[in-house]
Amino acid sequence: MSERRSRSEGTGRSRSESGSGSSTARRPGTYGDYGGQYVPEALMPAITELDDAYERYVRSNAGGFMDEFASRIADFGGRPTPLQYAEELSDRYDFDVYLKREDLLHGGAHKLNNALGQCLLAKYMGKERIVAETGAGQHGTATAMAAAHLGLDCEIYMGTRDIRRQRPNVFRMRLNGAEVNPVTAGRGTLKEAISETMRDWATTVEDTHYVIGSVVGPHPFPAMVRDFQRVIADEIREQSEEKFDSLPSSVVACAGGGSNTMGAFAAFAGDAENGDAATDTADTADGADTSAVGLFAVEAGGSSLSVDEDRGVAPNSASLSTGSEGVLHGARTKLLQDGHGQIMESHSISSGLDYAGVGPELAHLVDTGRVQAVSVDDDRALEAFHRLSQNEGIIPALETAHAIAWLDDADPEAVGDRVVVNVSGRGDKDLESALEETAKRDLDIAPDMDVFDAEAMTNGSSDIDVEDESR
Ligand SMILES: Cc1ncc(COP(=O)(O)O)c(C=O)c1O
Repeated sequence: MSERRSRSEGTGRSRSESGSGSSTARRPGTYGDYGGQYVPEALMPAITELDDAYERYVRSNAGGFMDEFASRIADFGGRPTPLQYAEELSDRYDFDVYLKREDLLHGGAHKLNNALGQCLLAKYMGKERIVAETGAGQHGTATAMAAAHLGLDCEIYMGTRDIRRQRPNVFRMRLNGAEVNPVTAGRGTLKEAISETMRDWATTVEDTHYVIGSVVGPHPFPAMVRDFQRVIADEIREQSEEKFDSLPSSVVACAGGGSNTMGAFAAFAGDAENGDAATDTADTADGADTSAVGLFAVEAGGSSLSVDEDRGVAPNSASLSTGSEGVLHGARTKLLQDGHGQIMESHSISSGLDYAGVGPELAHLVDTGRVQAVSVDDDRALEAFHRLSQNEGIIPALETAHAIAWLDDADPEAVGDRVVVNVSGRGDKDLESALEETAKRDLDIAPDMDVFDAEAMTNGSSDIDVEDESR
């Protein structure tokens, strides 16, 4: 593994080269001490080609790329998604709650913003084949949809454990024509799936683009994924002005790798990078003080925040709250690792949050204090899953349920009077897991499941009136 020196500036020194993280030189793709390009030499040509395409098409809109993206994400994706006032939640707390409904985006999660952007970029780059990893299956689903929409071949790598947890999404990917390659290594979750996809990409770069699913990986991935997801924050901003004539007081989002978080924060976080900055000149153009908007990243607290170093197990996925600095999947960031730098097994009730790392920009924003990292455990996330379903008529993804649950902890003084929660996805993919996990617990809020008296239903001896049913 080697970290490439800054190409465009020529003056930036990697942290490993300088021996210090305090350099103030502009270094594209670095965020304080985090980020960079820690990749094998074999991948460097692909990374360089991608970096050039990112600069050209995404940042400079060459050939009207971003206009085409905006038009496709509207017509194919269904943007803009609503910003909805949540009556029951607002009654429950001493602040108003608004839900940014990314669950209503085509495919059922925010993931399509990035998947469609990257598949379109692949087309502009002349690539014909897409590879992608997936954890919860939402990114794989979004990528399979985008690839089918744009006529690209698509292969998805997915851990065997996640395949078991997310069967409906695996079927959706296959329906959209994608191959799904099971990854048996390690625990069979997202970390292993990313490693396997990178291996594929290293040998197929000529005709293949790797659509990474979050703001992780070597530069330009974290910046590029953030830029495609930024549409969420831009809409929150515009819709807040329309609805209540000011910015929200806070934005809350769940954090796995960090793409829905960075997407929802991007228009408020400002120029937080040391180098390849999200130059938010627009943030100040209208005089609005975006620095006053509270930003809260809700991590998966799993079953406990403590770690078992000896067994190499972290029963959580809270790398922002409990992790330490290291290198994973091509970037320096915050990780769940033991004293020897071995990545620990992570855990979360939601497969989309079950990852031992986090995006480098988000890690930096937490270090600088601009974003506050908080966490919610499995039990409370499941409770919030039921609460939002019953009280607001929205079945959220288990990932999203973490953000909803955290509202119970929110200090009204700290979050202010108008809180936007990013509903990153809908819960259809989680129904099997939610049923299973609910059955293991004694949750007051869970619905009575007697209706699933399987024996009675198969014997036809249930109370259900068959004639009535046929009407
Ligand atoms: C609905 C949903 N929300 C959140 C996440 C977490 O990913 P990220 O932190 O990149 O938004 C996932 C990941 O699969 C997801 O499916």
